Formats: sequence, structure tokens, C-alpha cells
Amino acid sequence: MVNLATRFFRLDLKSPVIAASSTMTGHAAQIEKLAEAGAGAIVLKSIFEEEIHHQLQEEMNRRPRTRSDMEYMDYFDCVLREDSLRHYVHLIGEAKKAVSIPIVASIHCVSAGEWMAYAKAMQDAGADALELNLFLVPSDFNKTGVDNDLFYLETIRKVQQAVQIPVAIKISSYFSNLAGFVQKLSETGIAGITIFNRFCTPDIDISTQKVIVSDVLSSPHDFLIPLRWTGILAGNLGCDLAATTGIHSAETALKFLLAGASAVQIASVLYNEGPAAITRMNRGIEAWMAEKGYQTLADFNGSLRSRKNAFAAAYERVQFMKYFGEKTY
Ligand SMILES: Cc1cc2nc3c(=O)[nH]c(=O)nc-3n(C[C@H](O)[C@H](O)[C@H](O)COP(=O)(O)O)c2cc1C
Repeated sequence: MVNLATRFFRLDLKSPVIAASSTMTGHAAQIEKLAEAGAGAIVLKSIFEEEIHHQLQEEMNRRPRTRSDMEYMDYFDCVLREDSLRHYVHLIGEAKKAVSIPIVASIHCVSAGEWMAYAKAMQDAGADALELNLFLVPSDFNKTGVDNDLFYLETIRKVQQAVQIPVAIKISSYFSNLAGFVQKLSETGIAGITIFNRFCTPDIDISTQKVIVSDVLSSPHDFLIPLRWTGILAGNLGCDLAATTGIHSAETALKFLLAGASAVQIASVLYNEGPAAITRMNRGIEAWMAEKGYQTLADFNGSLRSRKNAFAAAYERVQFMKYFGEKTY
């Protein structure tokens, strides 16, 4: 009998397959199904700073700008924040009642602002860990890379000061020196890093000539960029590493475990297939381990990270020269 136990968020998980933050993890009844299907942990749907800003902006646009209105907006901002936090705290409580696996609260931050009070309230509501979904689109021409880096470091520092539960982060790949900066983040005392979040991306519809939102769900081929960076980063960080994006099968999950991830976070496949995807992936990992004679994840986890073996160059190779050089039409 093989054992799928792993550690991420500084927590013991019975499976490396984590239900990632999404609307699938926003209701206690659904969370119960994900746990029954064998999820190692649940990351709750994020509470979104941007959403609060958006609602605030809508209210501001509706009202004329008098002094008393500006005072009202301060009040409205406060009510909005309290309301979204109250809902979130309730969700944590319901999720904790429904399942025994770890429940990880998630905050999506676009500024290093007010998250300490939120983080504390989530800890007090019983969250086992906190994941900060950190992302700035580095599109401000007036900012430097250092300004953007500071947002990450400051947010982590402030939230860590507010809570005792493990704090992990989920990030994008938009950094000028990815390896060096992720290593720096990993040394801030955080419990784990998940690479790389998938975001809404713009596309263009040429028939209507409008800018639209591209596919929301990932495809099974989207895993290759996180895989490269898992191989490069694993073994070089001061915290555990997990991966997300495009992980739809046991085979893909195994690639990440071989490259050095402690766990994988999945969302799109849960929309496509429901919680059964978790059972399918756990069984697939178990079957492969049994076939290879492995008893625990530690028997093979990280065996193909770049530092450890002869494949280092493969993780860093970027040009197809050889292939294009030989191909003729
Ligand atoms: C519909 C949808 C909603 C999501 N909502 C959140 C969210 O609230 N917070 C977050 O950190 N990530 C969110 N994500 C990102 C997922 O957690 C996941 O990291 C990402 O989709 C990549 O994994 P996948 O390829 O398995 O979908 C969402 C993804 C989808 C598809």
C-alpha cells in the first residue's frame, strides 16, 4: 500500500493534490465533496481587494463629489470591507465544520494595505494557514522593478506580523530576475510558494473587433512553464514549493513531484470534471508508485530537479535551433 502523505503550508497533507482557490472552494457543501474525493487541503476562494475597490468605484461614479459624499464613501468603504470579511469568516467556520482536512484562507492583494486585520480575523475563525494571492500587473511605466518587489516583501512582512498560522504565497512569473527573487521571497519566513497562478488574460475577437477575456480554464498543455521553474527552483528555496496551472492528470502531477514540488494545486480540471478528478489523480499517482516500487512520495520527490541530476541543462534550454535547423519543407 503506497502512502501519498506530503507537507505543504507547513501542514501534514494526506495527498499532494490540493483543491486550488476558485469558486469551487467558495461553498461548504462543495468543499465537503472535494474532501471526500481525497483532496489534501482546500484553499478557499480568495477575498479580493480589487473587487472591493471595484464596488467602491461604482458607488463613487453614481454619486456627485460633495464633501459629505466623500465622507459617505469612507463609510461605504468600511461597510464593504466589513461585509466581505464577515462572509469570509462565516465560510471558514462552515468549511472547518464540514471537513477535517486543512482549510487555507486566501487573500488577493494588490496593495500592502489593510490585510493584517483580515489575516487575523481569518486565523481567529480557524483557518489552518493563509495563502496570499499576490499579483501586480507590472504595467505602470513610472514604477521600477524595485517598487514592485517591495509590494511583495512588505505585504508578506505585514501579514506575518499579524498572524501565527503559516503564511504561503501564490505568485505569477512576472519578475525581472525570477529565480533570485523567488529565492528571496522564500527566505522571508513563509511556509510555501505556489508557482504560477493563472489570470484573466485579454484576447481580441476579430469579428466584433473587441477586446475580450480569453479562456478562463487552463488546457492540459499549460503546465510546461511552471514545470520548468519547479525543476529550476526546487532545492534552492527556503520553503516548500507547490505548482499550479495546467495540471489535469496524475501523469502531469507526477512530473511536478519528480521535479521537486511538494504538492499541486488544481482548479480547471475540477470545473471540467468535478471532484472526481481528485480521486482519479490520487489513484493514478498510487498506481504509478506501485508500478515503480515506491512506497512514499519521498522515494522519488525531487529526483529530477535540476540541481540533482544531469538534466539541469534541459530545464534551461530555450532555443529550438537544432530542430528548426534540420527541418525542410
Ligand atoms: C474560475 C476560476 C476562479 C479562480 N479564483 C481564484 C481565486 O479566487 N484566488 C486564487 O488565488 N486563484 C484563483 N484561481 C486560480 C486557481 O486557483 C489556479 O491556481 C489556476 O486556475 C491554475 O490552475 P488550473 O490550471 O488547474 O486551473 C481561479 C481559477 C479559476 C479557473
